[in-house]
Amino acid sequence: MTATRGLEGVVASETSISSIIDDTLTYVGYNIDDLADHASFEEVIYLLWHLKLPNQQELDELKQQLIENMELPQGVIDAFKLYSLQNVHPMAALRTAVSQLGLYDDEADIMEKEANYRKAIRLQAKIPTIVAAFARIRKGLDPVSPRKDLGLAANFLYMLKGKEPDDIEVEAFNKALVLHADHELNASTFTARVCVATLSDIYSGITAAIGALKGPLHGGANEQVMKMLTEIGSADRIEDYLHEKFRNKEKIMGFGHRVYRKGDPRAKHLKKMSEKLTKLTGQPYYYDMSVKIEQIVTSEKGIPANVDFYSASVYHSLGIDHDLFTPIFAVSRVSGWLAHILEQYSNNRIIRPRAEYVGPGMQTYVKIEDR
Ligand code: CMC
Repeated sequence: MTATRGLEGVVASETSISSIIDDTLTYVGYNIDDLADHASFEEVIYLLWHLKLPNQQELDELKQQLIENMELPQGVIDAFKLYSLQNVHPMAALRTAVSQLGLYDDEADIMEKEANYRKAIRLQAKIPTIVAAFARIRKGLDPVSPRKDLGLAANFLYMLKGKEPDDIEVEAFNKALVLHADHELNASTFTARVCVATLSDIYSGITAAIGALKGPLHGGANEQVMKMLTEIGSADRIEDYLHEKFRNKEKIMGFGHRVYRKGDPRAKHLKKMSEKLTKLTGQPYYYDMSVKIEQIVTSEKGIPANVDFYSASVYHSLGIDHDLFTPIFAVSRVSGWLAHILEQYSNNRIIRPRAEYVGPGMQTYVKIEDR
């Protein structure tokens, strides 16, 4: 038995949800480019969960179900107030709150298909509220209740800032949610599938997935990109900064991908948005710096930008705190995690691979007093 490092190239599951073929990403056969330009995030959620686009009535019904389930149990809000939050990463807070949410759900361990779908709605609806509530509570502000007349993208920005976002902000944020919704067997989705393939519950699966997304090699990269842009500070420092990273063999966050070779098809949409939004907010240098970084990393290392690179300056332009970038990834990706969890349950087999043993050969046990 020979191990494949990082399971590269290993096909670990069948799925009907999304596919990456020749650097093209599709959800249920629809090109991500079309969905990014035309679909609402709710349409995409429906698509991922039902494997078809909704008609108007189906979409309205889903939106209604989501809106009705956005409020949090008071205990989840109160729990945030128990901790000294200044040093708590919002991904850790989200991971804990989602696990806690399971304690309030009478159906948490009921495994019937309909009960699992109802839990999917509740999780999809509540995760944006958790992220927004945490962001406000740690600043000493009261959480803002969701509005019944707003979709998920607008509601999230409203709950975060306490004022209704304008159309450009909603359009950009909706597009970002659509682009991050699913991505075949990425690390967090695989984590969710491994967890629920033991027939554990949905809350456990989503909690595990949030833990996997948190790392800087996965969802955590978007926050690190903003840190890099801030650290560099101005365009004239880019070359020195990158060359030092190259010399030290350090990774440049927001670049590279296990599956894409020529480039991440999501990056171009975020690049366009970054150009527009940084101009609108009077900070075009973030876009200009990003373009220069991309040129150098691509030409000198041959490594293209991924989804996380331009999403950093997009979220910054939307006035979002930098450590909320990865939780926002979760606000979107939970739709994909839930789709994969439902798919796993529908055709389950426990996921239990083997390891190549590289430790010592057979040894004789020696009693502790003789060692
Ligand atoms: N900067 C510099 N060199 C890189 C980078 C990078 N961002 N990415 C890959 N390389 C180099 C790497 O050093 C290695 O070189 P060598 O063969 O000389 O040792 C080669 O390219 C292959 O890299 P790898 O780390 O073996 O590739 P992987 O498929 O195991 O990892 C990755 C993929 C995305 C984790 C990696 O490219 C990376 O760490 N990127 C930076 C973090 C990042 O942006 N993550 C977000 C990924 S996309 C969205 C998401 O999943 O959340």
